[in-house]
Amino acid sequence: MSTDFERRLIAHAAARYKVAGPYAWHFARGKLGGDPVFVAMLRDGLLPSPTTILDLGCGEALLASWLLAAAELHARGDWPADWPAPPRIEAYRGIELQPRDVARARCALPAVFRVERGDIRDAALGKAGLVVILDVLHYIALADQRRVLERVRACLQPGGTLLLRVGDAAGGLPFRISLAVDALVTRLRGQSLGRLQCRPLSAWLAELSALGFAVRAVPMSAGTPFANHLLIAHPGDPGRNAA
Ligand SMILES: C[S@@+](CC[C@H](N)C(=O)[O-])C[C@H]1O[C@@H](n2cnc3c(N)ncnc32)[C@H](O)[C@@H]1O
Repeated sequence: MSTDFERRLIAHAAARYKVAGPYAWHFARGKLGGDPVFVAMLRDGLLPSPTTILDLGCGEALLASWLLAAAELHARGDWPADWPAPPRIEAYRGIELQPRDVARARCALPAVFRVERGDIRDAALGKAGLVVILDVLHYIALADQRRVLERVRACLQPGGTLLLRVGDAAGGLPFRISLAVDALVTRLRGQSLGRLQCRPLSAWLAELSALGFAVRAVPMSAGTPFANHLLIAHPGDPGRNAA
């Protein structure tokens, strides 16, 4: 159940998409309001500050709009006393495969928020303090997942963070529900779902650890019927894993 403040923040962040058409606006409202990851990132202080963000498979770049709205409400003094200040974003760059999402994001966001059409399997990543990958990697083959994660590790600046949201393939019915919703949303977006490459949470943790990340998993399905986890990973100290 969202608080009054959360509802204001959701409405403010989603309103930016009205210029991109009714679908983009309603999708933004539904996703920002229904997905616990957006509130958790701010309420629980999961984002470093200041930081430069690389958002891989960014869709409509809702994360950018969310953080922009947070900064605006905070500047107005409209901010919960028990939440940390929102992060200061020095740069945001999103990479997204679907031209329609890229167009919606560009329409909604100020030009300093860069959203590029590209494939995360081969796009140049540059350098970033924070890499965010929310619900994307399971769309690409296992070998490509590994290559992307290797390149993410190389692109992170010292002290950098990777936030990777994944479904737990060992999560039983909640995981199967998330697959069904994924298929429905993909169809509504006019796309087709290829073969999904999902893994149990333990395998995601092992993969990140093998690539030299220290990683912890935070359940990220509150208020939904899914089996999602946010993996918070830092290069180095690969022995410090905890589920
Ligand atoms: C479930 S959506 C999540 C969007 C966004 N991360 C969010 O949380 O709002 C997954 C996105 O990943 C994008 N995607 C899938 N494979 C990709 C690839 N190889 N390169 C870039 N984007 C990709 C899809 O087009 C889609 O927009």
